[in-house]
Amino acid sequence: MTHAFSLDGRVALVTGASRGIGFAIAEALQAAGAHTVRLARSLREGGGKGRTQLALDVTDADAVQRAAERVIQERGAPDVLVNAAGTFLLKPLTRTTPAEFAGQLATNLTGPFAVLRAFLDAMIARGRGLIVTIGSVADHAALPGNAAYGAAKHGLRGLHGVLAAELVGSGVRATLVAPGAVDTGLWDTVLAEAPADLPTRDEMLRPTDVADAVLWVATRPAHVVVSELRIERRR
Ligand SMILES: NC(=O)c1ccc[n+]([C@@H]2O[C@H](COP(=O)([O-])OP(=O)(O)OC[C@H]3O[C@@H](n4cnc5c(N)ncnc54)[C@H](OP(=O)(O)O)[C@@H]3O)[C@@H](O)[C@H]2O)c1
Repeated sequence: MTHAFSLDGRVALVTGASRGIGFAIAEALQAAGAHTVRLARSLREGGGKGRTQLALDVTDADAVQRAAERVIQERGAPDVLVNAAGTFLLKPLTRTTPAEFAGQLATNLTGPFAVLRAFLDAMIARGRGLIVTIGSVADHAALPGNAAYGAAKHGLRGLHGVLAAELVGSGVRATLVAPGAVDTGLWDTVLAEAPADLPTRDEMLRPTDVADAVLWVATRPAHVVVSELRIERRR
């Protein structure tokens, strides 16, 4: 693939980078030349060629703040920040417990907010950069069984919109990437319980499909803003 500009020497931070979509995005950005800072709870702390790994729970705002201070001190403000960490819950509203609802909001909405809040000032001060939010088809469609997940992702879409509005004139751009179903471990438990109307794994996107899209956005010239990308599997 040819890039409108290279990511050589750039720093790309990706949450949820231990597996699935976040991992594929981190791999794609690193392959394009970026140094990747990869965050997830299960990652072993350390570094290597082209990567730094930090164990981080995005629902712990203090830990997010500390991690941001460390990253900014060691690497500077990220050129690309991808909020990909997330969890899924498929349950009808009346069977969703308050704790499950709060948990979905904590990981899928408050977590990305904490990450944005911790890095945004440094990115704005530097006057360039890109923030990618991994939304979902559930951020704009009302799907049965998505009371908690859909509420969190609709909130994330709202957060992205306000972010984009507040970034006008700053040099920092924001993109919402909203994929349909993607074949990752997120579906393991859900498919094991197998409600009939769910897509099969063969009918899903691949994590690399989403990573390709993020890489495309991240390699547009600085005057180009891609506000939103919706990605679906051909039916
Ligand atoms: N798969 C789909 O069909 C699909 C479709 C549309 C959108 N999405 C979105 O894409 C994103 C990634 O999903 P995926 O399919 O790649 O899921 P996945 O394979 O289950 O990966 C989820 C990632 O998020 C991390 N994570 C979860 N909770 C975290 C926390 N509290 N703090 C830090 N990291 C956390 C996990 O790492 P640790 O467990 O190591 O923390 C893991 O790296 C999510 O935002 C999801 O909503 C997925």
